[in-house]
Parts: sequence; structure tokens; C-alpha cells
Amino acid sequence: MSGGQLYDTIGATYTVTRRTEPRIAAQVWAALGDARTVLNVGAGTGSYEPPGRDVIAVEPSAVMRAQRPAGAAPCVAAAAESLPFEDQSFDAAMALATVHHWRDPIAGLREMRRVARRVVVFTHDTTDTGWHRRFWLTRDYLPEVADLLAGRPSLTELARAIGARIQPVLIPWDCADGFFEAYWRRPEAYLDDHVRRGVSVWARVGPGPERRAVHSLRADLASGRWADRNRDLVALDAAELGLRLLVT
Ligand SMILES: C[S@@+](CC[C@H](N)C(=O)[O-])C[C@H]1O[C@@H](n2cnc3c(N)ncnc32)[C@H](O)[C@@H]1O
Repeated sequence: MSGGQLYDTIGATYTVTRRTEPRIAAQVWAALGDARTVLNVGAGTGSYEPPGRDVIAVEPSAVMRAQRPAGAAPCVAAAAESLPFEDQSFDAAMALATVHHWRDPIAGLREMRRVARRVVVFTHDTTDTGWHRRFWLTRDYLPEVADLLAGRPSLTELARAIGARIQPVLIPWDCADGFFEAYWRRPEAYLDDHVRRGVSVWARVGPGPERRAVHSLRADLASGRWADRNRDLVALDAAELGLRLLVT
């Protein structure tokens, strides 16, 4: 199944939990510099589209396109690997929380580089062998996440493909965008079906691992085991869980 087809299947309730997180948006918009024209690739429902600039969106899923708010940037039905634009036709191209869904991430990033003078990508670092152990949810409850990474290019390979530098992105404890790692200090959130339906990881690992992970987490929250294991998180306002910006 392509990434667009996946979102035609799972994307209908995306906006219940997924929206622009202002502190991450500020970092992304700063990285866009003085770009006037911006292409948003894998744009989904329009989160993080910068105000005050001329934005064109690209999104392959009809279900996601249909949820873009009235007045959102115009959206073209296409995929990153074959962008229907002339060379260097945008000041900047951005892609957030989408590269891991692309059939060929390197080809998609090269396309962004072809059509824009600057590229900004929000993704995660999977090169570190300890990556899935950095976050308690994958380490203690959902190790199957590691299997989803098999055969995918590393962060270094993605950066090298477009000559990007890598910047860390911290996740605030009260992150407004409900992506997979967003609730690192609010573990009860993962017991909520609406939260899980907004994150493709749960659909991709399948119902068996999902049921087991939720059951174990619920038990550990009730017994105090989760709190014992994760004491160090309570005092943190932001966490470094491997999220990264690639910026050319
Ligand atoms: C997690 S959503 C992120 C949406 C939006 N960028 C955001 O930050 O909310 C991932 C999006 O990538 C899109 N996608 C999947 N495969 C794609 C591809 N090959 N090219 C462009 N977008 C793709 C999906 O349809 C989905 O809308």
C-alpha cells in the first residue's frame, strides 16, 4: 500500500489530535528564512503551513485533502517522488512528518531540491541503534516499531542526498500536535483510542501488538510501575527523542 493509500484508509479522524505545534512551527518557519513561495509536500490537512507566504500544497490522499480547512493553501494531488513543477519554481519546499511514508524517500527529497532553492524537512533520527530505546513507549511496550524501519534510509543518508544540515527538535511536554512521541510525559493519553488513531504507527504494527501494548501500559500506570521507571521525565519541560530538522 502506498503512503497516500494508507492515509485514505486511516486519515479520516486526523484533525481530532493532529494540529500545528507552535514551538515546532516557529523552528520550521525560521528555517524557511525569507522564502516568499513555499511548497508543502505531504501536506495532509495543512498543519504548519506558514502564514504570510504564498503556499502550494502537495498531498496524494483524497481523504486528507478533503479535511483541509476553507481558505487553506491550494493543494495538488501528487506524490513527492514526482512533483509536477518546473525546476527551481519555489523559494523553499517543506515536508513534515511525511518522509517515512514515501515509497522512495531519497527520490522525493531530490525532487524537493529540484523544484526549490531551499528544503526543510521534519523527520526523525533512526540511525542511532538505541533509537527505539530512547522512548519508553517503544522500549517497554511496542518494540515492533523497530521492524517498521527495516530497509529505510538513515537520517544521514537523507541529509546527504540533499546536502542538508541536521538540527535537533525538542518535544514540549504539552505538545499540541499528537504525533507518536508527543505524549511522552502524558502516558495516559496512549490509552485513548482517538490519540492512537491519529498516528500511523499503531495501524502499521497491527491490532495484536496494539492491544498488548495498551493493556501493559494500563496495568503499569495503575500499579505505579510506569512512574517508577520514568521518574526522570517528570521534571522535564521538553524531551530529545530523536526528532530532527533537515535544512539546506
Ligand atoms: C503524518 S501525515 C503528515 C501531514 C502533515 N505534513 C502534518 O504535518 O500534519 C503524512 C502525510 O504524508 C502523505 N504521503 C504519504 N506518501 C506520500 C508521498 N509519497 N508523497 C507525498 N505525501 C505522501 C500522507 O498521505 C499523509 O497526508
